[in-house]
Amino acid sequence: MAKQTVVITGAAAGIGRATALEFARAGYLVGAFDIDETGLADLAREIRAGGGEVSTGLLDVTDAEQWDARLAEFAEVASHRLDILVNNAGVLYSGRFEEIPLAEHQRMLDINVGGVVIGSRAAFPYLQATPGSQLVNLCSASAIYGQPELATYGATKFAVRGLTEALELEWRRHRIRVLAVWPLFVNTAMTGNLDMRSADSLGIKLTAADVAKVVVKATRRSHRMLAKVHYPVGRQAGAMMVASRFSPTWLIREINRRISHT
Ligand SMILES: NC(=O)c1ccc[n+]([C@@H]2O[C@H](COP(=O)([O-])OP(=O)(O)OC[C@H]3O[C@@H](n4cnc5c(N)ncnc54)[C@H](O)[C@@H]3O)[C@@H](O)[C@H]2O)c1
Repeated sequence: MAKQTVVITGAAAGIGRATALEFARAGYLVGAFDIDETGLADLAREIRAGGGEVSTGLLDVTDAEQWDARLAEFAEVASHRLDILVNNAGVLYSGRFEEIPLAEHQRMLDINVGGVVIGSRAAFPYLQATPGSQLVNLCSASAIYGQPELATYGATKFAVRGLTEALELEWRRHRIRVLAVWPLFVNTAMTGNLDMRSADSLGIKLTAADVAKVVVKATRRSHRMLAKVHYPVGRQAGAMMVASRFSPTWLIREINRRISHT
């Protein structure tokens, strides 16, 4: 039987990189894509040094033609199977809504939402042709309740949440499982210069490796039987998700107001 395969976007750094390493250790052939060529070369060296298999390629997730080309190339080395696509690439710009340049709002929408839509659509024929395939989207705890100083970023993650829930139902007929992974703040370049008070209140407690472990575990066969859609990462995100289900909206709103000092 051909090796199981995974394609990961934004794989050159942070959560994507850690996820690529974790899947390689688990025996997958990894398709690692990013706009950062140097980061990809460094990742490939590390995977190969550990005895793993990887194929890298330049991919801007907002470019549909690049998606088609990279996936077709990967199919050639992967015996035409795509077991898992991880839509991980994302960008964040925090701060007061009116002070964030419009181009940065647009960039978040294009990459965090557009990239997931284009990528999921481009990968569909490969996922459909691979029995037991899965689509994993990187969501965020900021999709639980709108976050001050993170309004557009949070809105993009609400969109990812909606896409995940809809496709989870829609793609059952194709036997493609769809799920989302929900970290709170993770110690990566993305949170290096966060300009927002809720990060100060809650702290940055997760590592990229913590998230990668949840992604790999969530996609294991045993977890498929449970058919969960949303996977929080860490105790804080888990508690926030449970609280959001069982608390009245006014309370969630008040907690968010206090956390963000607004
Ligand atoms: N870091 C956090 O606190 C956190 C929390 C929740 C969710 N997330 C989500 O996890 C994902 C990864 O975040 P991270 O913290 O690892 O970020 P990161 O900034 O460390 O890495 C992001 C990677 O995406 C790549 N990238 C950026 N634009 C791209 C594009 N147009 N096409 C392809 N690749 C592109 C970058 O080159 C980089 O390698 C994102 O979707 C993010 O929203 C992060």
